[in-house]
This record gives sequence, C-alpha cells and structure tokens, in this order.
Amino acid sequence: MRKKIVAGNWKMNMTPKEAVGLVNKLRDKLAGSDVEVVFCVPAIDIIPVVEAVKDTDIKVGAENMHYEEKGAFTGEISPGMLVDSGVSYVILGHSERRQYFGEDDDCINRKVRKAIEYGITPIICCGETIQQREEGITLDFIKKQINAAFTQVLPDDAADCVIAYEPIWAIGTGRVATSKQAQEVCEAIRCNIRELYGDDVATKVRILYGGSVNASNAKELFEQPDIDGGLVGGASLRPDFCDIVKYEGA
Ligand code: PGA
Repeated sequence: MRKKIVAGNWKMNMTPKEAVGLVNKLRDKLAGSDVEVVFCVPAIDIIPVVEAVKDTDIKVGAENMHYEEKGAFTGEISPGMLVDSGVSYVILGHSERRQYFGEDDDCINRKVRKAIEYGITPIICCGETIQQREEGITLDFIKKQINAAFTQVLPDDAADCVIAYEPIWAIGTGRVATSKQAQEVCEAIRCNIRELYGDDVATKVRILYGGSVNASNAKELFEQPDIDGGLVGGASLRPDFCDIVKYEGA
C-alpha cells in the first residue's frame, strides 16, 4: 500500500517569522493523520520550520536545489546545505522553474540524480500547457518529461521518488483538472515507469496531482487509483490545508 502524501508548496511566500506562525497554527491540527505531510518552503524558512515541526511527523522540503555540490554559483543552494538543515524532500522541475528560470529536462535530471545521491527525495514535477492538451499531445509530452527526469536513475532509487503531475493550466488558476483527467495522466505516468523499471517499481512510486487542489476537491482526486496525494500551492498557506490532509473525513 502506498502511503499518501500531501505536500504544500509555499512558493515565494512567508517570511521566517510568518512561516513559524503558520506552522504553529497548523501543526496540532495535522497530528494523527495517516497521510505523510510535507511543507516545501523557501530556503530561508527551512531552518525555522524544521525547528517548529521537530516534535511531529511533519517533514520539510525545499522548493529547488542546485545540482553542483559547491562552488561559484552565487545565490544557489546546494544539496549538502539542504541535508544539513534537516530537509527530506525537494521539489524539482516545477513548471515555474522551467518557465521563469529556464530549467530544461537535462538540468532537472541532474538535480534529480544529485538529490538521490544525498538521500533527499525528489518530488519531480511534470505537466502540459493548455495548448498541448488541446492539441492532444499531453501524454506524449509528459512521457518525454518523465523519461528525461529518470535518465540514469536506478530502479531502487526510482521507486522512492515522488512524481507530481501538475497541468500548467490548473496551477494557481482555480481551474482544477477533473478527477478523470488527472487519473488518466497519473495512470499513464505509472505505465511509463512500468516500461522503464518493471512492475515492482511502478507499484511503489508515488504520483501526486497538483493544480488548484483545495478542501472541496481533494477527496475525489486522492481517491483515484493512481493518485497518491497532492502538491498544494495556494491552499497550503491557509488553514484549509488541514482539511486537505484530512480529506478522508470530508
Ligand atoms: P496551486 O499550485 O495549488 O496554487 O494551483 C500548485 C503548485 O504549483 O504546486
């Protein structure tokens, strides 16, 4: 049985003080859930958030990472820095990184491999534009992104990775994919992983849906057979994040 994950993606929101305030507000309400909860937070919030969740099961993730270990990369954060700060997950290949910071499939693959080397679980994002969906090339495009992200990743490591399917047209728009659309793509991603690594890895790998997830649509999405939880942007900054985590009672 795959354990569900609900990961918040705070994006560029929350100063360190605000971050601690939010975590303190949510922390107790999140206790006692069977779902794995991850707060993916801006780099500067990592240390205070790790401290604020230290007596809980909540995990902390980063939103990005460089693939080099150290050196002259002004402004970047290395995998070793993340590990040393208590990070267990890192979002890689988010469409905002691809779109605004020019990250391509090769760069994302390097980051995935480096995160694995450091024992950080990558949350590998993929997703199509509205044009690609309308042209009917969604599944082909996502296959290309997944194949690239997993290049040279070994089967045991692949099984521990998390994939997030996030249609770009659903991110921050309030226009959520239907559970049928989301399931169709997540199923195709699992088939793709099966082709690459076989049944065992495909059964283990966790696939999330992201894009306008909220407390009223989480249950239907997360109950789809190939959807193992969600990557939540806007709603992760609000108290209804707790209702998303507790979707089973919704
Ligand atoms: P959203 O963002 O939930 O605000 O649509 C999701 C994401 O970008 O991960």
